[in-house]
Amino acid sequence: MLPETGLPAQRIRAMLRESAGAENAVWKAGKCSGSVYHGGAEHQALLNEAFSLYSLANPLHADVFPSLVKFEAEIVSMTAALVGGGEGGRDVRGGTTSGGTESIILAMKAHRDYYRSEHGITDPDMVCCITAHAAVDKGCEMLGIRLKKVPSDPRTHTMDLSALQAAIGPNTILLYASAPNFPQGTVDDIPAMAALAKRYGTGMSVPAITDFQRPSSALVLTSSPLPTPLSCPGLDVMT
Ligand SMILES: Cc1ncc(COP(=O)(O)O)c(C=O)c1O
Repeated sequence: MLPETGLPAQRIRAMLRESAGAENAVWKAGKCSGSVYHGGAEHQALLNEAFSLYSLANPLHADVFPSLVKFEAEIVSMTAALVGGGEGGRDVRGGTTSGGTESIILAMKAHRDYYRSEHGITDPDMVCCITAHAAVDKGCEMLGIRLKKVPSDPRTHTMDLSALQAAIGPNTILLYASAPNFPQGTVDDIPAMAALAKRYGTGMSVPAITDFQRPSSALVLTSSPLPTPLSCPGLDVMT
């Protein structure tokens, strides 16, 4: 319940310092294998400065905040170049979102709308592995997409490709690859999945997180070198 009287700013600062201090101490002690992604103290200080300078910016109003449009265009362009798109590579369109879940859901929405308008699919389904991020479940529920989950291969802990192929049907609009998946950190066979997407005329999405991890890909348990995703014909969205 909203208290009758508010707390003084000093008290709020002290409370936040106490809780953030205790919580940050956990990952700073190396006790998290993921969850917190940072580039060191100096980088965090720069981020904090940037966040405070733009804390009230509203990207909906590009006329008031034109720099946000510029930053977004530059982020998309740099990311495209990193994953095999842009000049000399594939033609890429993109945008920034609030995070992984929103990116995945927007990719699903784009496929649902495209396959409905271009292929008349009104009862769409998509396929992911049982290890996929919960964002896929959330998106399917919100967008009215039937979700087919297939098992992972017990040897590689990646999507079972035979099960994937068997799950693809006439209403399948999207194959979702994990890169990496949450439980084991393994990367699904992206080129093989993209080949199936191309063969059956479905869409395919993969998280771009793999590519940002490429310099430290020892973190990602994969038996083969990670492909440059946009070099895979059949892959049409990176989130
Ligand atoms: C592969 C993958 N997909 C989706 C997400 C969800 O991202 P968010 O928590 O920003 O919504 C994550 C988060 O770590 C992820 O690693």
